[in-house]
Amino acid sequence: MKKQIILTGDRPTGKLHLGHYAGSLAARVKLQEEYRQFVMIADTQALTDNAENPEKVRANILEVALDYLSVGIDPDKTTIFIQSLIPAIPELTMYFLNLVTWNRLKHNPTIKLEIQQKGYGEEIPAGFMIYPVNQAADITIFKANLVPVGEDQLPIMEQTIELVRKFNRIYKTDTLIEPKALIAPIARLPGTDGKLKMSKSLNNTINLSDSADEVVKKVKSMYTDPNHLRVEDPGKVEGNPVFTYLDAFATDKEKVAELKAHYQRGGLGDSIVKKYLLEVLLSLLDPIRKRREEWAKEPQEVMNILRKGTEIARHVADMTMQEVRKTMKIDYF
Ligand code: TRP
Repeated sequence: MKKQIILTGDRPTGKLHLGHYAGSLAARVKLQEEYRQFVMIADTQALTDNAENPEKVRANILEVALDYLSVGIDPDKTTIFIQSLIPAIPELTMYFLNLVTWNRLKHNPTIKLEIQQKGYGEEIPAGFMIYPVNQAADITIFKANLVPVGEDQLPIMEQTIELVRKFNRIYKTDTLIEPKALIAPIARLPGTDGKLKMSKSLNNTINLSDSADEVVKKVKSMYTDPNHLRVEDPGKVEGNPVFTYLDAFATDKEKVAELKAHYQRGGLGDSIVKKYLLEVLLSLLDPIRKRREEWAKEPQEVMNILRKGTEIARHVADMTMQEVRKTMKIDYF
């Protein structure tokens, strides 16, 4: 019997990329063997800043599901489901909202950064403002112990833990479980342009579904050490995304160490390092792309997987909600 539970997910606002893979997808493929794993396509959360683009969110449900299946998330081992079809999540969110102050919400660093990036100013959608509380409900309604996420999600995990503690204290119960974040060794993958984070909105991603030609083009134009002008010059590996990607995805660590030493000494050109990176990335991405192409021929089959997963998830969430209602003394009949 798998006792430990994982809940994790992604917003369906675009195709998933190498940043997702390094941050969480690779871990999910491994962890599904030992854990009871739920993977959620977070359409409700996506709509908090896409109220005007429901078609985009809808179209990306299938894309994200294809990304999941193509990396090896196995629907026989992992329950894949759609967030908006689990009514217990907004229900628990509503009760959680009474346990958090407006001030606390405003000071969540993840939210603060996103408000800035999206240029909301004072016009912040209320639903967006409270999405961390909704995310706390996602996690706790499944009694998840473990949440594999990128580093940027840590403030939300912290808030989740606060809510669980407060809920259990106030209602004198142990119904809800305190989850732990599981952060990947390369917690944040930089963009191909060298910016801190790979992100669709920055247009600096390598997507899991990119064609081999696209990957070649993107790697060739990748940012490296701007001061490494001639081959014989010593180069920097820190802050050089080519080496960060090698650290994240190359299995031959010795070879990576040698390349780094040579690059730092001088005498190793960017194009040679990039050629090796390309080899590494294509051997990772080729099988993923092939599996994606196979699944993409059967969209109905993919939607069926989501429908079945959603039924299971809804049942599990409803069971927790019954307990929640009882501990809150709102189980009237
Ligand atoms: N906020 C996450 C992201 O932007 C997606 C997400 C929604 C999530 N609910 C979750 C992640 C619950 C982990 C657990 O990537």
